[in-house]
Amino acid sequence: TTYSDKGAKPERGRFLHFHSVTFWVGNAKQAASFYCSKMGFEPLAYRGLETGSREVVSHVIKQGKVSCHPQDKMGDHLVKHGDGVKDIAFEVEDCDYIVQKARERGAKIVREPWVEQDKFGKVKFAVLQTYGDTTHTLVEKMNYTGQFLPGYEAPVFMDPLLPKLPKCSLEIIDHIVGNQPDQEMVSASEWYLKNLQFHRFWSVDDTQVHTEYSSLRSIVVANYEESIKMPINEPAPGKKKSQIQEYVDYNGGAGVQHIALNTQDIITAIRHLRERGMEFLSVPSTYYKQLREKLKTAKIKVKENIDVLEVRPRKRLPAARSSPNRCKDPAAPLFLECIQPGNFKLTFQGFRGGAETAGNLTDLETNGCG
Ligand SMILES: [Fe+2]
Repeated sequence: TTYSDKGAKPERGRFLHFHSVTFWVGNAKQAASFYCSKMGFEPLAYRGLETGSREVVSHVIKQGKVSCHPQDKMGDHLVKHGDGVKDIAFEVEDCDYIVQKARERGAKIVREPWVEQDKFGKVKFAVLQTYGDTTHTLVEKMNYTGQFLPGYEAPVFMDPLLPKLPKCSLEIIDHIVGNQPDQEMVSASEWYLKNLQFHRFWSVDDTQVHTEYSSLRSIVVANYEESIKMPINEPAPGKKKSQIQEYVDYNGGAGVQHIALNTQDIITAIRHLRERGMEFLSVPSTYYKQLREKLKTAKIKVKENIDVLEVRPRKRLPAARSSPNRCKDPAAPLFLECIQPGNFKLTFQGFRGGAETAGNLTDLETNGCG
């Protein structure tokens, strides 16, 4: 279901776009190095002992407008969840107003607004609690002109290998998906509607999409401008264990399942990712067969040669140092997805039919969002 009612335009407190994603991992340097060499990110900024930060080691990497920062984080969170996404930051206008509204509506404010500054200017932050142990940092740049955020300095090490590798051209975060335990999708999605004045962008339930073996429940919420899309999934009953349930069991509760990155040229992106040694999840062989069939009668024409994509452009997050095999573990909690805007529906519908023979509905794709 697609929704056209975006609700009233919020008077203040505009959400601009995804600012960055913070990973809490066992070894930030190793994780950052993996994303740089395999996925085309480049070191952008650093915070650690060398910059006077005794608490956190953070390697910020960037590609296009996508900023990620793996941080070393030992302790309970790592034991409970393993490597994964801790925080999704949104760049906003009027952080104070957003926090005030969210508080009035019952949101948990993890950290009240505060300002940090360095020689490049000031940034105001606040942190809100969303599903599981995941948080949202609000980032309001107050004329800040630095590369990333106050307190970060230039990277201490530039890998000489990186400039020699082919460009992947991943440009922006399209959507970030959160998996919820059974019966928690609606409340998790309503958190965004109520507290952040987001609206329902798209949804699907198991009466609309199901096969003999599995089905899908997902609600996509978005900010007014629809520059931030957050699909929220929950398990749906089927003959086989839901992939969402697998995730929740493995992750120890709700959390981020995947991050989708847009590119304008997926064929080149995938080719170059492969040349860098990136591995991809495979899909049932029926997927591309059905896709080709559907394309014969579809209104859109695909100029590109889809043979290049025959292995689906997805990758699970490596668990770097702690468990080198985890990127191949089917239950590893996070994966990345590369998409080229425009082919969403075909991806989803084509995939459905193949799922029955492929075990669980491992990566149901919903309108580019699930
Ligand atoms: Fe997706």
